[in-house]
Amino acid sequence: MNPQHAYSSWAEVDLSAIEANVGLLVKHTGVRVMAVVKADGYGHGAVPVAKAAIRGGAAWCGVARVEEALELRQARIEGPILLLGWVPPSRIRAMAEAQVSIAVWDPDQIQAAAAAGQAGGPVRLHLKIDTGMSRLGAPPEQALELARLISARPEIVFEGVFTHFARADEPSQPTTVAQAKAFNAVLETLRAAGLRPELAHAANSAAALTRPEAAFDMVRTGIAIYGLHPSNACPLPSSFRSALTWKTQLAQVKTLPAGRGVSYGHAYVTREVERIGTVPVGYADGFRRVEGGIVLVKGRRTPIVGRVCMDQILVQLDGVPDAVEGSEVVLLGQQGGDKISAEEIAQRWATINYEVVCGIGRRVPRINV
Ligand SMILES: Cc1ncc(COP(=O)(O)O)c(C=O)c1O
Repeated sequence: MNPQHAYSSWAEVDLSAIEANVGLLVKHTGVRVMAVVKADGYGHGAVPVAKAAIRGGAAWCGVARVEEALELRQARIEGPILLLGWVPPSRIRAMAEAQVSIAVWDPDQIQAAAAAGQAGGPVRLHLKIDTGMSRLGAPPEQALELARLISARPEIVFEGVFTHFARADEPSQPTTVAQAKAFNAVLETLRAAGLRPELAHAANSAAALTRPEAAFDMVRTGIAIYGLHPSNACPLPSSFRSALTWKTQLAQVKTLPAGRGVSYGHAYVTREVERIGTVPVGYADGFRRVEGGIVLVKGRRTPIVGRVCMDQILVQLDGVPDAVEGSEVVLLGQQGGDKISAEEIAQRWATINYEVVCGIGRRVPRINV
């Protein structure tokens, strides 16, 4: 069914774009690619994104929560999955049973993993080293001791060692080089002790695109697989395609006289006779309550007027006389010859494109195209 007949607002996800973007990353980096599909595939739908990424050549999927890993397994995604973040100790067993690899960085976690492993089936670990993000991970000087603890336990498979860059999306900053150097030193120490695991990984999308020397054995790419730029300073090559188009439609169109207040607080007042359209999307859908936005109607940039409501926004249709009730409205993406990018919306909302797409609400159905 045409989504316009069924939904107030929906997001169309072009899975062929995701597949192609992963293919570009495989080619560009020459190493294994982990598709980072946490946060419901950055708002694009974790399961279809993971399947498209695997078709495109992704060797691994990365998630942040136990529930996200289990969702992939329930959808019969059988390849390797790494839970990048913290696992509540009582869920380590569930992760082992689901053959999901987990991140660890302290002796208590290793102990808990070994105990979970004794209860049945091996536990697969990736040792996380904090080389400068100051978020999760062990200091580099503890890496060898932790690797020894892990390797001493037959219930554990020591699969990988990894770190995360804090400023890879600012290519002119020296931080990434310093972090990669610290990580290389850890790898050298582990190798000298005969404890280097098969997979060393560090790079997010920005580093995968700009730092070939930091690709190691695998890159962990999120934002780039969705065709979104890591940052203004680190744009994607033009061959990448954005995958998501957020659509809605005109629910009502009316002609108002001059001097009429529009929406809560009458923050906008018509200056003359104006055509105003009501669009069924609001802040409860993840469309932020920020004044002065733009949508596309009939391929033309059309201003949002007045305050964003929970379920509605109002648009000024004088520039699109051919717009009628039922006309398609694009909030994010391409319509006709124009496009509103996630980056443009992020700028308006004083945030980053990651938050724009992750914030699209659950009541906006994702339609795979
Ligand atoms: C540990 C880790 N690796 C990789 C990524 C992917 O980052 P990006 O979306 O910038 O490629 C993230 C995302 O935040 C992450 O937390």
